[in-house]
Amino acid sequence: MKVVICPTAERATALTARVIEQALRQKPDIALGLATGRTMEAVYGHLVRAHKEDGLDFSACRTFNLDEYAGIAPTSPHSYRTYMNAHLFSRVNVPLEATHVPDGMAPDMAAQCAAYEKAMRDSGGLGLQLLGLGENGHIGFNEPLSALTSRTRLVTLDPATRRQNVGMFDNDLEQVPHHAVTMGVGTIADARRTLMVVTGAAKAAILARVIEGPVTAGISATVLQMHADCLVIVDEAAAADL
Ligand code: GLP
Repeated sequence: MKVVICPTAERATALTARVIEQALRQKPDIALGLATGRTMEAVYGHLVRAHKEDGLDFSACRTFNLDEYAGIAPTSPHSYRTYMNAHLFSRVNVPLEATHVPDGMAPDMAAQCAAYEKAMRDSGGLGLQLLGLGENGHIGFNEPLSALTSRTRLVTLDPATRRQNVGMFDNDLEQVPHHAVTMGVGTIADARRTLMVVTGAAKAAILARVIEGPVTAGISATVLQMHADCLVIVDEAAAADL
């Protein structure tokens, strides 16, 4: 695990985008694992700029998002599919059919999860997985005590996670789904490279446990300590407890 501490969140998200840009330039048909959340909005902003100003080409890549809320349609304004279309997919030249986000309304969830895993395998495996960090240490929606070997599956969201993400649901907790579909911890660990970006003082305590604490299913991001190629990019506020 390599950790880079940047002076500001702006610099951390710009560097994160730069790492993705380099991976894409090196292997234009890379399978990219993507993430959502407030931190990623700035990362995608930088990638859109690299596309528009420096010709960064997304036409050959495939993307697989980490997770999606269950029980809401892809077309819902609150879905991660809508988030990804708005922040990245509609603003760069990735073919929409090459973008994958789990469907929160899939009639057969188990079949969908198995198909998602197969699609990732068929694309040669994820070359780079982008990750944020939940305040309880989750990656994707792998809540505390998710098995470190878990695969893509339906999960129940932690009350803390539902509160953390209420901003995307008009600040109305009632609207935040109780379940989600997420790549597993084992699925994420299979990516050839993992890239986590963490900013802000609210994540300082959990980040210290993720980087310096014991590897434990209680904090799914600790699995990254055992990953052969993991880069963690943080700002000074998030690094305060390291
Ligand atoms: C959600 C996502 C995670 C993300 C986390 C952090 O829970 N499922 O993948 O890492 O939010 O989001 P934020 O950047 O908004 O703090």
